[in-house]
Amino acid sequence: MLQPQSYAFIRRVTTTSKEKAFQILENKCNVCHNKRNRRRVFTLDNMNPWVDDVYKQVFIKKRMPKGKKIKLTSQEYQDLLTWISATQNNQNGNQL
Ligand code: HEC
Repeated sequence: MLQPQSYAFIRRVTTTSKEKAFQILENKCNVCHNKRNRRRVFTLDNMNPWVDDVYKQVFIKKRMPKGKKIKLTSQEYQDLLTWISATQNNQNGNQL
């Protein structure tokens, strides 16, 4: 049985992974989407509903980040994946 403070802990860990992921989306994705794909500018409010699209484009099809100039470091791939798995596991229920 989880104690209430454990839920607070889990929520904090997940929020941190979301914030880390947002920094990556902001630095490596929005820089371009701001100009070239304005319907897909990531914010803290829309990023969770778009998690499956991010996963598909970055990890399955490997289309994003588009072009040769912007690359993700292995740490950034790891941080995105941490957010993706935390978010996919939480899709029914609490919006983290
Ligand atoms: C240099 C420009 C550029 C960068 C950097 C970039 N994108 Fe994109 N992205 C585009 C453009 C242009 C489109 C729309 C055309 C297309 O799909 O190729 C797009 C489309 C998308 C789509 C929708 C594709 C679909 O068919 O549903 C997603 C999701 C996406 N990008 C995610 C990302 C993520 C996540 C990153 C960062 C890791 C990123 N993009 C980085 C230019 C970029």
